[in-house]
Amino acid sequence: MSGRVQIRVDGVDYEVEAGRTILQALDELGVLCADGSEAVQLPAGVEIPHYCWHPKLSIDGSCRMCQVEVRAAGDEAPQLVIACNTPVAEGLEVDTRTEAVAHAREGVMELLLVNHPLDCPICDQAGECKLQDYAYEYGVDHARTKESRRKLKKRVELGPTIVFDQERCILCRRCVRFCREVTGSGELGIFERGDRSVVETFPGDPLDNPYSMNVADLCPVGALTTRDFRFKARVWSLESVPGICTGCARGCNVQLDVAKNEVQRYRPRRNDAVNGTWMCDAGRLSYQDIAREDRLSHCLVRTSASASASAEAEAEAEAEAEAEGELRPAPLEEAIEAVASRLRPLLEEKGPGVIAGVASAHASNEDLRAFKTFLDVLDVDSIGLAVELGKSDDLLVEAEKGANVAGARAVGFGDIAPVVERVKGGGVDALLVLGHDLIGPQALPDSALLAGLDTVVGFDTHRSPLERVAHVVFPVRHAAEKSASYTNSAGIVQSVQQAVLPSAGVLDERDFLQRLGEALGLAAYLPVSEPEPGREEAP
Ligand code: SF4
Ligand code: SF4
Ligand code: FES
Repeated sequence: MSGRVQIRVDGVDYEVEAGRTILQALDELGVLCADGSEAVQLPAGVEIPHYCWHPKLSIDGSCRMCQVEVRAAGDEAPQLVIACNTPVAEGLEVDTRTEAVAHAREGVMELLLVNHPLDCPICDQAGECKLQDYAYEYGVDHARTKESRRKLKKRVELGPTIVFDQERCILCRRCVRFCREVTGSGELGIFERGDRSVVETFPGDPLDNPYSMNVADLCPVGALTTRDFRFKARVWSLESVPGICTGCARGCNVQLDVAKNEVQRYRPRRNDAVNGTWMCDAGRLSYQDIAREDRLSHCLVRTSASASASAEAEAEAEAEAEAEGELRPAPLEEAIEAVASRLRPLLEEKGPGVIAGVASAHASNEDLRAFKTFLDVLDVDSIGLAVELGKSDDLLVEAEKGANVAGARAVGFGDIAPVVERVKGGGVDALLVLGHDLIGPQALPDSALLAGLDTVVGFDTHRSPLERVAHVVFPVRHAAEKSASYTNSAGIVQSVQQAVLPSAGVLDERDFLQRLGEALGLAAYLPVSEPEPGREEAP
């Protein structure tokens, strides 16, 4: 059925898509509060509590929580129906706030709470639990049953990522449908019947698909929790900042949940044009990279090789294809001058033709534009984009492992191969490298080819094999530490906000380039921004 129909919900008229159910139609209009995995509170929204319905899964109609009163055109008396499985029709009147609706919801809540353990104080879901929320709104304050509650399995590891508390399960079947309909892996099922029904994995089939952690977002109660976030923080102590996952070119939308200036977890943020309501497990766990031990926090400058270095040591360094001397932490001014004093004579004696620039798909649009402007002002035309390639799948994961591949190409960074050929041919004396993707199977298999270059400068978030040959390395910000934009594989430009402060010496690529431009006297290289604040203390 196609076309639009007029319905009235709580006295407000809406034009909705014909052939949809009440919940689907309101969700598509963006007026439905609590849209499944994410609680959305809309001041003018329609609140219809629901457990089993989810906008990206098939309709189950099992929890009965979404009951509303409807009156079809021409009907005298309203009737109670479930909003998730009742189609809209021209002239349909929906009431979500009548006494009969409240009574029906109370009845559902009473049934759900008959067997639910009273362990909210020690449940990891407390604070973001739909059972808790609706119990406050629709629950009764005493139990009419005297029988003891069901005893079921506790703390079951369903696979490497998810822990299951069977007693807390309200059998909404979201997790089961996700594994059947979204990943197609079908590890979960409902076993037994009636009041003995339980969710279990099939024997010998652990829950270990690459999207397994989404079931914890889907579970409206504390039955499914991730091993990663379990008992790590109380959710009311977290601040949520919208951002994106930078693990691949998809750029899944996420919430970064932050406490004590540390990102505690990523959760998928709904964006139907990018990732729906899902994200992959690898991307979800990539928040751990932000505070990883090998994060760079200071500029590194290579000291010249000691005059007294033994012949054996020199031979050893050569054999390992490392630049001579060692990288040591240095102040920003020293690092800038170390680069400028290497580039000046090269520019004077050989010109910009011996300089090359490699961009990164991890850098933001703003940093890539600054890098391109910097290279243009220097008159460097040997430029390329290094991208790490990996596995892809049919759901979200893309082969290009960087959030801004499309952005870098749009700025003007093309194929890396000509740059690599030029390096191999001896036509490059100085190389400026954003990110760590240059050294790898897709571009340069190892750093040995760069060991003889006059100047290698890196801009990176983490330590990398480039350090073996770099003369200067600048520590740059992770996407969670900056306000910037990234263009995903579909060409959608997505902005992120600064969620955590990096240590004070960690800046954006554009800020380092601005200082370098000043040191080289590049009058045409315009400053692009004031650096965002960082933490004064060391991490
Ligand atoms: S484990 Fe959670 S998502 Fe799965 S059926 Fe039970 S309550 Fe629903
Ligand atoms: S699909 Fe890509 S962008 Fe999305 S969560 Fe996974 S790694 Fe991150
Ligand atoms: S949400 Fe409608 S029956 Fe569960």
